Amino acid sequence: MPRELREVVFVDGVRTPFGKAGSMYAETRADDLVVNCIRELMRRHPELPPERVDEVAIAATTQTGDQGLTIGRTAALLAGLPRSVPGYAIDRMCAGAMTAVTSVASGIAFGAYDVAVAGGVEHMGHHPMGQGIDPNPRIGSEKLVDESALVMGATAENLHDRFPGITRDRADSYAASSQHRLADAYQHGIIQESLVTVATRSSQLGWGLASTDEPPRPGTTKEGLARLKTPFRPHGRVTAGNAAGLNDGATACLVAAEITAAELGLPVAMRLVTYAFAGVDPEVMGVGPVPATERALARAGLAIDDIGAYEINEAFAVQVLAFLDHFGIDQGDPRVNPYGGAIALGHPLASSGVRLMIHLARQFRERPEVRYGMTTMCIGLGMGGTVIWENPHHSSPAHPAADLSEPAGAAAPAASDTSAKGER
Ligand SMILES: CC(C)(COP(=O)(O)OP(=O)(O)OC[C@H]1O[C@@H](n2cnc3c(N)ncnc32)[C@H](O)[C@@H]1OP(=O)(O)O)[C@@H](O)C(=O)NCCC(=O)NCCS
Repeated sequence: MPRELREVVFVDGVRTPFGKAGSMYAETRADDLVVNCIRELMRRHPELPPERVDEVAIAATTQTGDQGLTIGRTAALLAGLPRSVPGYAIDRMCAGAMTAVTSVASGIAFGAYDVAVAGGVEHMGHHPMGQGIDPNPRIGSEKLVDESALVMGATAENLHDRFPGITRDRADSYAASSQHRLADAYQHGIIQESLVTVATRSSQLGWGLASTDEPPRPGTTKEGLARLKTPFRPHGRVTAGNAAGLNDGATACLVAAEITAAELGLPVAMRLVTYAFAGVDPEVMGVGPVPATERALARAGLAIDDIGAYEINEAFAVQVLAFLDHFGIDQGDPRVNPYGGAIALGHPLASSGVRLMIHLARQFRERPEVRYGMTTMCIGLGMGGTVIWENPHHSSPAHPAADLSEPAGAAAPAASDTSAKGER
């Protein structure tokens, strides 16, 4: 059967405020966090008839307890979507939500869905990292990977070993800047617009409302960070201050065929260009975004200089710096995580991919001169994932915004169309 691929767009994304693991969400169920996000998306978009949602893909790294029972399906039911709307669960550790988006996007491009919800949740308080896992003994006995590969902080120390130029001082300096950028973004109301207020419960404190992120430490100084212990290795370089913490939170977004977005009047925040995942040595999983990005750029026919906005997940400062050094990007570059990142905000594993997309969509809105942007992240067991997006607000003499946002059926400019290169 002859078939045409369709353009795919990111319509909108929301998230719960992120909490410290087992703190403000200690008595809140993980599935309820993601249900809040789906309900908020539907509330914000009354132009989307609920029965037009064709799929709900929700990621969680641990898929037991309140993150079990095929969470995409249970979340769809609990959110009040029609019973005709199916759902499924997905896992690629830290890139769970990113993979949920790329999976439904591929289905949309193929013509299997018109509109889908994708997102992720991790309640690291209810599901501590590594709890209940049963790694195949061959991994250890046959030395398929070094045992440090199973402890993410240890892999970050390994990365420092591999790149001695990435010093503790540089990592701390990057971490302090993430905190300050986030504080600035909060001051300007940038973070709040995507937050869903969550009713919380505590048997001791009663009912409460979670309306802001709990982990940020805006008063962070480099001097304060320099005093912190290195829990993953004596005299190491990775600390609680230059790593993402242990967190609870959820995200969700609407992904649609561009032609359906035009039909329903859904806004277009970003247009998908391409994506790639790549494997690396599990012992240095943090370097994963490098080959994933090279692969994605090659598929899109783009060069790193064509990317004008970056959202890089900050699992650890060292891993962001390894990426920036590889591509010759300055560590203080304002195009990279301008609203702060996971070091300040938190990283509820499987949810973070959509949080990056929410921030990139905001960058696109603020910066119409940028045509292409990327979301990228490292992934446990040695992987990286990169998604390249195009800015629908982009305007330049060569590519007026009106052309780019042309609706239904209009062929979007090919990613390999290089006429606007250099406008980052
Ligand atoms: C690094 C890690 C072990 C720290 O856990 P923790 O010890 O519970 O962290 P805390 O928040 O209690 O912080 C430890 C100390 O650092 C201090 N600290 C943390 N951030 C700070 C900052 N920005 N400025 C100053 N001090 C800070 C805390 O106040 C605390 O001090 P204390 O011991 O005097 O109370 C944990 O966050 C971790 O494992 N992170 C990585 C998560 C991960 O692997 N994710 C997956 C990525 S692939």
